[in-house]
Amino acid sequence: MLKKPRGTRDFLPEEMEQRREIEGKMRSVSRNWGYREICTPTFETQELYTIRSGEGIINEMYTFEDKGGRKLALRPEGTAAVLRMYVNEAKVISKPIRWCYLSDCYRYERPQKGRYRQFWQFGAEQIGADTPAGEAEIILLANDLLLASGVKFELHVGHLAPMKHLLSELTESDRKAVMAILDKHNFDALKDYLESINAEELYESLKSLLECRNIDDAIEICGDIPEKERIKELISILDRQGIEYRLNLGIVRGLDYYTGMVFEGFAENLGAENQIIGGGSYRLAHLFGGDDVASCGFGIGFDRVMVSLGEFTPETAPSVSVVYTPDVSAHAFSVAKSFRDAGINTELNLLKRGLGAQMKHAAKTADYAVVIGKREAEAGTVTLKNMKSGDQNEYTVENAVTEVE
Ligand code: HAM
Repeated sequence: MLKKPRGTRDFLPEEMEQRREIEGKMRSVSRNWGYREICTPTFETQELYTIRSGEGIINEMYTFEDKGGRKLALRPEGTAAVLRMYVNEAKVISKPIRWCYLSDCYRYERPQKGRYRQFWQFGAEQIGADTPAGEAEIILLANDLLLASGVKFELHVGHLAPMKHLLSELTESDRKAVMAILDKHNFDALKDYLESINAEELYESLKSLLECRNIDDAIEICGDIPEKERIKELISILDRQGIEYRLNLGIVRGLDYYTGMVFEGFAENLGAENQIIGGGSYRLAHLFGGDDVASCGFGIGFDRVMVSLGEFTPETAPSVSVVYTPDVSAHAFSVAKSFRDAGINTELNLLKRGLGAQMKHAAKTADYAVVIGKREAEAGTVTLKNMKSGDQNEYTVENAVTEVE
């Protein structure tokens, strides 16, 4: 028996219906905020992702050469392709541009609960509004999307400037190394690393910065920064909107392209892989041959949201199964069409089997059985049986349709 590749999943209809319901809610909230859906290719040139994603992503990338010798990669995340598309297609669109997407992504990670090699991100990118309002909108949209999904989460909002300022005396590579350790919250490794580069005095300041929940306290710890007023304005918009979040100046993010505001969200019931969203402000377009435009956005780990929500019964339309004797099969096809034309999900028996076996099948797959024998076919009626209550009555086809609707 052949097996699916490690880190991938099959989705049965029940699970797909649950996923489609949540996707639908996210699409509709995004559209409501002016974010229209786009789609980019599943594979791109490798270069697109190696230019600025950072080592973490590059090491996990699915790369291959096509028959023409082109070096390609499966999409490890949504943002780079969206900005490549902006550079190729959208320079004349009036800014800010608001786009959203639901994309399958591929990362060669060690699979576990909530961590897969093929996973989906629901993302949004806002291109061209380099303002606190533009950043606030992205955080507020993310908050609305997560609320609409029904997931229970905690949002953390931060900014890279205070930490970068605190680490400004370090070399670029030491700063990156320290931030990578902080991203993993490994304080023993942090202490060891700082000692190894004779910067142990930073340890306490970094710890205080991570614990601090107020921008004025952060300035005390890391010194004055030019971004102070901008960060305050962002905080003031968020506070006035009354969303629940926590200021967290310890967020460093795993990807390399972030420039300022950063944010993350965590679901309460997921264990180690509890980060359900990551995002922030970044600049990428100029690296792909476009203008140096500021953008910001986020990616929601759609699969993690689904794991956190657990199983639920999606809102589905009523369904019928048409059960009939072999002599009336042509008529049965027409009756099924009448139900489908009314928007009712309708299946029809396809096997040579008796009414009893057909009813048994209908009980498993439909809300109603529509039974047609010779008598019903001649009278232009059907017997409609509610499979839950067991009630059954004879109706004209038209009235049976109305009864199910
Ligand atoms: P990211 O934090 O790398 O950011 O990924 C976003 C979310 O995708 C994560 O918070 C997590 O929920 C989910 N995720 C990541 N890896 C996996 C995996 N192996 N299995 C399941 N879920 C996973 C980005 O990708 C950025 N492009 C976000 C962004 C958009 N920043 C600005 N715009």
